[in-house]
Amino acid sequence: MKTSRIRFAPDILRRLGEELNPHPSYGIIELVKNAYDADAKNCVVSLSNVDTTGGTVEVSDDGDGMTIDQIEQGWLVLGHSQKLKKRCTKLGRIPAGSKGLGRLAALRLGRFARLETQPRSNASDAYRLSIDWKMFDDASLIDDVDLEIEHVDRRPKDGHGTTIALDRLRDRVGRVEVKQLARAMLLLADPFGDDKLGFQPRLVAPEFADLEKLVAKRYFDQASFHLVASYDGDPRHARVLSDQAEEIP
Ligand SMILES: Nc1ncnc2c1ncn2[C@@H]1O[C@H](COP(=O)(O)OP(=O)(O)OP(=O)(O)O)[C@@H](O)[C@H]1O
Ligand SMILES: [Mg+2]
Repeated sequence: MKTSRIRFAPDILRRLGEELNPHPSYGIIELVKNAYDADAKNCVVSLSNVDTTGGTVEVSDDGDGMTIDQIEQGWLVLGHSQKLKKRCTKLGRIPAGSKGLGRLAALRLGRFARLETQPRSNASDAYRLSIDWKMFDDASLIDDVDLEIEHVDRRPKDGHGTTIALDRLRDRVGRVEVKQLARAMLLLADPFGDDKLGFQPRLVAPEFADLEKLVAKRYFDQASFHLVASYDGDPRHARVLSDQAEEIP
């Protein structure tokens, strides 16, 4: 008798990456959702020269980060999510992810992907891992490609968190896609921007300055009316005020 195994050709990564990506902004949104799930307060999405092919995307957060074990047993393992076990995060957020595939949609967007992460649990450790997809295209099996996890100096100011950079994008990310991205960021954001534990995404995209502002101004700035409600526990005292502080009967 001979035992054997199911093995995967690198093509599966390309196919999955493409199928997960109805449009290029989708992959970037997946990275923002991962920052949200990691209890980040701040998440900065920087887009450089994306209106043409060959651009760069960087998504940086100050969330939980990953230990070397979490990189090896989680981030580098496709198709299983630890989030399935969690009903909510430490900050009480309901995880946006569950399939263990979202990052692949993003990572395949460019020729190069780089992960830098510093875990909240041990802020003296920081790691970097770089992927050149050409190495996979040239290999016969996914397992044949070795990836190095480097121990690097602590990220100076942030303390903990994760940065994912995608370089030499294969497709352009045009205005329509950046608008989709901006709207998805707004839906995850703390609407008033005043909750210390809320999620505060920021878009840095010099090619689309108006969409940067859209994210900065938050969802409620687009509303025609603002209502402020107060309630002291006694339903007879409940009051609803307009944004002009006038009582609404
Ligand atoms: N910014 C991040 N900070 C901390 N951990 C992360 C971050 N991004 C990814 N991870 C880890 O990598 C895992 C894989 O991410 P991925 O988005 O592929 O899957 P998922 O979020 O679990 O599920 P889904 O496919 O539904 O998004 C996550 O479960 C998480 O453990
Ligand atoms: Mg995810």
